[in-house]
Formats: sequence, C-alpha cells, structure tokens
Amino acid sequence: MEPAISDTRAARRNASRTVALELASLRHSIGDRVLFDGLDLTLLAGESAAIMGPSGSGKSTLLSCALGLVKADGAVRVAGTDIGRLSGRRLAEHRRTTVGVVFQFGELLPELSPVENVALAALLSGTSRRTAYAEAAALLGELGVPVADTPTSSLSGGERQRTAVARALINSPSLLLADEPTGALDEANRESVADMLFSLPEQRGCALLVVTHDPQVAARADRTWTLSGGVLTERAAS
Ligand SMILES: Nc1ncnc2c1ncn2[C@@H]1O[C@H](COP(=O)(O)OP(=O)(O)O)[C@@H](O)[C@H]1O
Ligand SMILES: [Mg+2]
Repeated sequence: MEPAISDTRAARRNASRTVALELASLRHSIGDRVLFDGLDLTLLAGESAAIMGPSGSGKSTLLSCALGLVKADGAVRVAGTDIGRLSGRRLAEHRRTTVGVVFQFGELLPELSPVENVALAALLSGTSRRTAYAEAAALLGELGVPVADTPTSSLSGGERQRTAVARALINSPSLLLADEPTGALDEANRESVADMLFSLPEQRGCALLVVTHDPQVAARADRTWTLSGGVLTERAAS
C-alpha cells in the first residue's frame, strides 16, 4: 500500500538523522499555575515544527527551556547534550555554538549595520574578525539583505527580520528557534520571510522550531503542535 511504503521511507530517513531537540517529561509551574504538565517533543535535524496556542499558554517559556534560560523538571537535550546538567559558562558556550534564536522584533542593535549585527554573533563565539565579517556579508547576501554600510534601523521590517535570521545562523546552529518571527511584518514580508525560514532545515540541516499565531505560517512546518492547558497536541497534517 502507498502510505505504508512512504511511511517506511520516512522512517528510514529519520533513523539516519540526529536529534536536534528533545524535551522529555517537561514539567514547570509559575506560582500555582501549571505551565507544562509532562511535555514530550522530539525534533530531528532537517525537520521543522510549529507551535501554536493561546497567549500565555507558555510558548515563549518553552523556547526559554530549550535555551536553558528557564529550568523546568524533566530533561532538555539539545544536539545530544542534556543541558540541565550544564551551568554557567558551559551552558552559555553550548547555547552559542548549537542554538540560534529569532525574536518577533528582531532585537538587533539599530545603530550597527546588518553586517556588524551578524558578525558580532560570530565574534562572540571566537571567530576571527576577518572571517566573521566575510561570512556575515555572504550570509546576508544569500538571505536577500542588501549589504550596505547603513544602520540596521534604516532597513525595512522584512530586511531586519532577515538580518535577525542571518545572525541566528552565523554560528551554524543545530537548532533554530523563532518566537513569532513574522508577527510584526506586513503580509508580503510575512510570506517571504516564512518561506525563507522554512527552507533552512533542508538547506542547512538544522532543526527549526517556530512559535506562531499565524496558521498560514504554521502550515509550512513538517509538524504542528498546539500548546494548551500544559500539554502539546499534535495537529493532523492538512
Ligand atoms: N518570568 C516570569 N514570571 C512570572 N510569570 C511569568 C514569567 N514568564 C512567563 N510568565 C507567565 O507564564 C505564562 C506563559 O508565558 P509565555 O511563555 O510568555 O506565554 P506565550 O508565549 O504562550 O504567550 C504567562 O501567564 C506569563 O504571564
Ligand atoms: Mg510568547
């Protein structure tokens, strides 16, 4: 039967891939509110996932757990390392080399040029100045940002978000996290930035986890979950 054959193909393909992110039995409360009530999530290299869910359901907190910025009960493994066992400099070092993050409003340094914003992330992880600037310029070019020596604040919203994606990618992360990355963009930019973002897992082999309110953005993901009432429910593929 067709589906069985394609299932087998998918299983074979998945078996050879590494796990980029694994959340196991994640539990977390804020005050008397249970935010995560035993969450499990596995994301493979080259795979994309979207998390939707009501405001305040804990989506951003979930990304903070994957970054090791919020410590929850249970296990968080990123690129094979249980980050709950790391602390201080080792955790920061692991995050810097394996995870990239894109925020809703870019969170770039507005006075710096796009190349400087992106190169800075490479410089902070020990890349030489020359290489950092060359790689930043090349990556921005690939992602469709004009490489001019103008402040990032003068770019369009779409270009700023592409710059934020370049900054997240410059250290070749295994895991790319994005928290409502298209939430501040107009429709045309939303579409083109979402297309670019969801092309990255296949192009670069990273896993992509996107939090979004936009069903059209989520529809691009290989898998989609809804976070509500402390649990993740996978949505059937449409
Ligand atoms: N540092 C914090 N201190 C207190 N409450 C917090 C903190 N971070 C998040 N919360 C609360 O946890 C809940 C989930 O927040 P968040 O993860 O930002 O939700 P979402 O991203 O789904 O909108 C919200 O009720 C929020 O007010
Ligand atoms: Mg949020």
